[in-house]
Amino acid sequence: MSGPRRLWGGRFDGPADPELDRFTSSFSFDRVLAPWDLVASLAHARMLFERGVVGAADGEAILLGLSGMLRDVESGSLVVDGDDEDVHTWIERLLTERIGDPGRRLHTARSRNDQTGAALRLLVRARLIELLRAVDLLGDTLVELAGSHLETFLPGYTHLQRGQPVSLAHHLLAHFWFLDADANRLRRAHEVAAICPLGAGALAGSVHPIDPARTAELLGLVPFRNSMHAVADRDYVVECSFACALLLVHLSRWAEEVVLWTTREFGFARLSDSVAKGSSLMPQKKNPEAAEVLRGKSGRVVGDLVAHLVQLKGLPLTYNSDLQEDKEALFDALDAAAGGVGAADALLRGLRFDTERMRAALRGGFLTATDLADGLVLRGVAFRDAHESAGRAVRRAEDLGVELWELPLEELQACCPRADGDLLRALDPEASVRAHASPGGPAPQRVAEQLAAARAALSERAAWRDEQAPPPIYRAHLEGALLHPR
Ligand code: ARG
Repeated sequence: MSGPRRLWGGRFDGPADPELDRFTSSFSFDRVLAPWDLVASLAHARMLFERGVVGAADGEAILLGLSGMLRDVESGSLVVDGDDEDVHTWIERLLTERIGDPGRRLHTARSRNDQTGAALRLLVRARLIELLRAVDLLGDTLVELAGSHLETFLPGYTHLQRGQPVSLAHHLLAHFWFLDADANRLRRAHEVAAICPLGAGALAGSVHPIDPARTAELLGLVPFRNSMHAVADRDYVVECSFACALLLVHLSRWAEEVVLWTTREFGFARLSDSVAKGSSLMPQKKNPEAAEVLRGKSGRVVGDLVAHLVQLKGLPLTYNSDLQEDKEALFDALDAAAGGVGAADALLRGLRFDTERMRAALRGGFLTATDLADGLVLRGVAFRDAHESAGRAVRRAEDLGVELWELPLEELQACCPRADGDLLRALDPEASVRAHASPGGPAPQRVAEQLAAARAALSERAAWRDEQAPPPIYRAHLEGALLHPR
């Protein structure tokens, strides 16, 4: 036979065009599905065996053959390689080479359409659990760092202009809550991926007395409701790549702050040598390359998400080969997300905060002008009038070259007649942070509550992760218990 090995041919007379064969082959990128396809095949075979769709002797041979292949693929002694059309073809060919004719019965009541979906869903779920673990490790790092900076004060920004003072802990935790939402989105993608398409066949189920719910159970999944939906559905691909894209977009916002903060202009942090890169020309340089690459990766994963949406747009039911194209973009999104999260963690650990520079930046921006207006409101002035006179005080301080809290009381009172000594003292940036004690605000006692909530969210997810067991059929494979009921 010339060209790739295939699972079909009875109807064909002439050879296929070799260029088109190369163009349509997916083996170069779907070979990573091999272990997952073997696990899914084990569940399918076990169901066929239990239901008597294949006889006991054939069923045993198939189960043991698949199990042996899985063991060998995992140990690396069986290399997933060949001139096959795709990984599914490779598995069936190898199985039949190993066990002979019984291998030719494995594909009863299944199609590559339900097969590829099952394998991809298992892979996605496993990768999502790994990714969730990494995201929560990064969350841990943020929380631990935040815990030691409740009283490190710095400007908070709007429009990249100094706005109001906050604590470094509050700023770091803002990034934590983005990650927390990402983790929950990844979990949702994990749940969406739990529908098992096996038993849908090409699109119309099967005439054989199969039990798709049993196959699903053996894989730790839930059965499909509609065989056409089951083979056409790639929502889990979209949700997974969306969760990855938004995660990286969030990391890119943080990375941009790392870039800014490590400039000489900001100077809020320095990069330790382990996380900086030099210049081939300029000897003095220490560049935040990891942060820049992180920013760049987000664009590429947004591209992966768009690729998936465009592949599905206007696609008629049910399976179409366009769907084969989902894999590279999905693997790319998962790889970029995993790499990005790990890099962000290393980068965060390699940042050395310059808390003196942060403190110094509390001067010069009149960061407590809002506190002045609010203090006047507390003394009975309407907010709009208070805003006006606080603005005049800012102008006065600027003219005198002093900070708001350094204004002589008479100067302050010339602009704001209701002002008193207490209000003047409240204009100190540190006092301002402590006074912003509304729920979710930057005051240290509020941030301590936030820290507790963040830790609770992390441990809830850790408990959830611990509950996620590998597919029951995989355990049976490990325990050599594939032939015994349950
Ligand atoms: N390699 C294919 C994929 O990745 C498997 C399904 C092929 N089905 C078909 N009828 N051509 O989607």
